Order: sequence, then structure tokens, then C-alpha cells
Amino acid sequence: MSPFQLTRTLPEDATDAALRADVLHGLTRSPKELPPKWFYDARGSELFEEITRLPEYYPTRAEREILVSRSHLIAAATGARTLVELGSGSSEKTRHLIDALLPELDAYVPVDVSESALRGAGEALLEERPGLRVHALVADFTRGLDLPPTVGPRLVAFLGGTVGNLLPEERREFLRGVRAVLVPGDALLLGTDLVKDEATLVAAYDDAAGVTAEFNRNVLAVVDRELGADARPEDFDHVALWDREHEWIEMRLRARHALTVKIPELDLVVPFEAGEEMRTEVSAKFRQEGVRAELAEAGFTLSRWWTDEKGRFALSLATVD
Ligand code: AVJ
Repeated sequence: MSPFQLTRTLPEDATDAALRADVLHGLTRSPKELPPKWFYDARGSELFEEITRLPEYYPTRAEREILVSRSHLIAAATGARTLVELGSGSSEKTRHLIDALLPELDAYVPVDVSESALRGAGEALLEERPGLRVHALVADFTRGLDLPPTVGPRLVAFLGGTVGNLLPEERREFLRGVRAVLVPGDALLLGTDLVKDEATLVAAYDDAAGVTAEFNRNVLAVVDRELGADARPEDFDHVALWDREHEWIEMRLRARHALTVKIPELDLVVPFEAGEEMRTEVSAKFRQEGVRAELAEAGFTLSRWWTDEKGRFALSLATVD
């Protein structure tokens, strides 16, 4: 049997239908909003990779530092024989974890909406680790997890702080969904960015080189291409602000002047007032007590908490018993 297997639980046209529904709903409500998952077409994924290398964007480096120094502890604590990774993307940081688990590991199960990302990452991993079994899943894990039969104990990893891109209610539902596919002895490894001073946070989402601004505007290019719309990215300013009440960063696009966007595929004309802002992402920042409480509510116990040296980012090991 080939060491690389790919299963699609997401119909080819599901992405298209979900985009239409999100754009129709988000652009006809007030205030307008678009969900952050639509940033990540090929160009958006490239821009995100560029963001992770910016001097201001610390989360990727901080999380990698924790994985490099703690993977052996994670392996010892979990004894995982299956590693499931949600939103695996390029699987770059996960290598450290895979290598620590390798002696006992039966399979690595990366889950992503992007088949091309899964194939690319799977190939790169297998080239250096011919003994590894990779069973990639094309799936939207925010709509419930449907895992193939796997050997326990299982470790589900959700890295990068992406859990912070879900709204509190979505987060509750997501964590419950993960808990539902696990049994006692399994575990969840969760990456969360931490609350810190406002200047550091805002700079990470409003870099001097303007890469995050281009990433933010890229969602308009996605809507234009996929739905035949005529939004002009240059008509919108990038906005990143710290919401201290919710403790999250919000990204918005602000119309530079009054304009309309035509979306023929939805039979829709969307007016924007001058200065009108549309939310495109929340990125929640966490504290240990909040993470512990959210995990407990979903049926997990926070059993280990690791941060980078500077205390900017945390990895939580949550167990099921
Ligand atoms: C790594 C996907 C969680 O919220 O920090 C980066 C995405 N948005 N810059 C984050 C992102 C703006 C990101 N995630």
C-alpha cells in the first residue's frame, strides 16, 4: 500500500457553495463581514507564508520555539500512535512533533480544505521519512470532524493560534466536536497566542512592509474571481485594531470613498458608504485561565501548558479522561 493516501470528505462544489453563502450573508448584513477562511487561495496562502517571516509577526517563531524544545515531552506524555493535524497547511512546524513521535507513530493524518497543500506537504514529509504513513483528509473541520479509523492513542494538533480566528460560540462548538471523536487516553494539542501589550499585537497585524494589508485585501480578489465581482482592492484601506473588551485583534477593510460592488453571480449590488468598515478577521488572544475554562467546558483537562521563553504564545496539552 502506498504510504500516501488521500480521502475527500468535502464535495468538490462545497467550497463554492460555502463561499456564496458567506458572501451573501456577510455583505447584506450590517455591519458587513467576511469570514477569514476565504483569505487562503494560492496567493493568500503565499502571503500568509510571507507574514510568518515578518519581523513583527512573532507567533510562528514563538510556537516553533515551543515545538522544538517540547516535542519530546509531548511524545512522552501522549504516546500517540496517530497524529491528526487540523488546518495542516504546509505542515512545516509539525515536523518536529512527527519526528519525536516517529518510533511509535502509525499514521500522520493532516486535515485541510486545500488538496494541493495536503499533497505538497505529504510529498515533502515522505521524501525524508519513507517509513511514515500519511492519510490526508480534504475536509472542513469547522463543520464537524469525521476521522477515518485510526489507531489510539490519538493526538489532535491544532496549531498556529488558528482557534483564535473562531468566534467564542464557534470555538465552543469546535472544541466539543473534537472531543466527540476522542476517547479516554487521547489528547488535544492547542496553540494559542497570548494577551500582551497593544503595540506589539497591533504591529503584528499591521506590518511596516504592508504584507498583512495585501493579505487582507486579497479576500476581495477571491470574491472577484470566484463570484465575478468588481471590488477593487485599492479602494479599501487595511485596518487592524485591538478590541480590549473581547481581547482580540480585528482586521477590517475600510472603503476609501462611497462605492458599490457588483456581484453578478449572486445577483447582488452592495453599497459602501465612505469610511464604512467590513470585518474580515478576529484573532483572539488568550490567558491560561480562559483556555483552561474553555477546554473544561468541552470535556478536556488542561494537563500541560508551555510558552516560549518570552511568554508570547502557549501550547496546551489537553487530555480526555
Ligand atoms: C495564524 C491563521 C491564526 O490570526 O494570526 C496573520 C492569520 N491574520 N495575520 C492569525 C493572520 C493576519 C493568523 N493565523
